[in-house]
Amino acid sequence: MPAHNKTYNSLASAIREVFSYISRFKGQLFVLKIEDTLLDNPAFPVLIRDIAQLHSVGIKILIVPGTRNSIDRQLRTYELDSSFNNGIRLTSQEALPLVEQASLGAAQRILSYLTANGINGIQGNWVQARSLGVVNGVDYMRTGKIERIDCSIIEKLLEEEFIPILPPIGWNKLGHAYNISSTELATELCKYLTVGKLFFIGEKGGIQTQGLTRGKLTKKLVLSNHGLISALDIQQTLEILKNNPQLSHAQRDYLENAIKACKNGAKRVHLLSGIAQGSILQEVFSSRGNGTMVYANEYWNLRPATIEDIPDMLRIMQSYVERGLLISRSQEDIEAKLGDYVVYAVDNAIHGCGALHAFKNHSFEIAGIAVGANYHDAGVGEAVVNFLLEKAKSKKAKKLFLLTTQASDWFYTFNFKDGTAEDLPKEKRDSYDKARNSKVLVLR
Ligand SMILES: CC(C)(COP(=O)(O)OP(=O)(O)OC[C@H]1O[C@@H](n2cnc3c(N)ncnc32)[C@H](O)[C@@H]1OP(=O)(O)O)[C@@H](O)C(=O)NCCC(=O)NCCS
Repeated sequence: MPAHNKTYNSLASAIREVFSYISRFKGQLFVLKIEDTLLDNPAFPVLIRDIAQLHSVGIKILIVPGTRNSIDRQLRTYELDSSFNNGIRLTSQEALPLVEQASLGAAQRILSYLTANGINGIQGNWVQARSLGVVNGVDYMRTGKIERIDCSIIEKLLEEEFIPILPPIGWNKLGHAYNISSTELATELCKYLTVGKLFFIGEKGGIQTQGLTRGKLTKKLVLSNHGLISALDIQQTLEILKNNPQLSHAQRDYLENAIKACKNGAKRVHLLSGIAQGSILQEVFSSRGNGTMVYANEYWNLRPATIEDIPDMLRIMQSYVERGLLISRSQEDIEAKLGDYVVYAVDNAIHGCGALHAFKNHSFEIAGIAVGANYHDAGVGEAVVNFLLEKAKSKKAKKLFLLTTQASDWFYTFNFKDGTAEDLPKEKRDSYDKARNSKVLVLR
């Protein structure tokens, strides 16, 4: 195939992927906690423009500004000390007006950027809080704990296409203000609103695999192109936290809150860098994203193929057909044996497939195993083959065979052994392509 055709094909499949994500996310709410260290970064206007793009395709957005940096700066200006216990700021009575000013200031700056992108943002005091009090002898003074969030107004504003901005300040019934954690606020919102995605956007972003101690659950993981962990379920997140005390306080805090947010009802929580250009668009509109996603419910599954999956299966197989690794199949070929095929779907996008074809005498063929290039070495192929082996077992298979040109070493790991054309059922032997000279592997 000419090079330019290949480019157009991959461009077209990328656009298709984006469209499928847009239709899935339209009308959903994304909550974004944005660290205020990003406000002075040259990449920030680009991030806001990308957020505006998400809003323009019908995704509802709510923003919680991080304020740690702005508060530190404000306190330093007035030469007030600032201390923390377990990562929580102790807010003195004297510091509170400065904390309020800094928090509202950070929210105001985001509002200005939104306005510059033609979007109506709105800042409000919808959080009810009370004093965190004295915990284990430590007096947190004017640091508060979220009691309730008034979401009826927030929901109305979202319906009217506003972007609500919630600075991390809460008020008690008497109107006294408390300094609250923006990460906690973003996490807590997932209890009150139906949140499709929660983002923790900072300078660092996702979890790098380099230097990470992995355990049984995290031995095989889907990685992004930048060596980041693409996705973790709750159990895997707990394992990473347990095995890696060296993670920074911020990373631990985000991972722990990601678990809480999932338990509060958020479908997906993403740790993302706001500096890497286009990272939020990549994370939302592509299956492998550009950050680390924590998910509560099923993110991937193996299921029987449907007729709608066929174009995606053909797309995955195409490059292997061109390289002589798979035989060519048409839409009609797959349709005729659709019941034999299974697909590996990630959030409904297809990334792997395979088939189990039945022959006489309880003999079965494993065929058409293919994994999308972005998902290699993440255990997808293994999951597909194991699923088909189980299926064969349930059908009382006596013999399994397959034909392969370059994956025999891989199939040996499933206990397949070298065979010959004599091991094939007659109809398969008759159609054996001598020029192709595929290896025959057998499992009894
Ligand atoms: C072969 C294939 C299905 C493997 O899928 P996958 O999801 O990447 O594989 P898994 O994650 O389950 O396994 C990865 C392991 O297999 C190894 N592996 C992958 N392809 C291999 C091959 N062709 N030969 C030998 N080993 C291979 C990897 O090095 C990795 O080893 P490790 O676990 O020691 O690091 C995939 O590479 C593919 O689609 N290949 C092209 C199509 C093909 O050849 N299909 C088989 C003919 S039916």
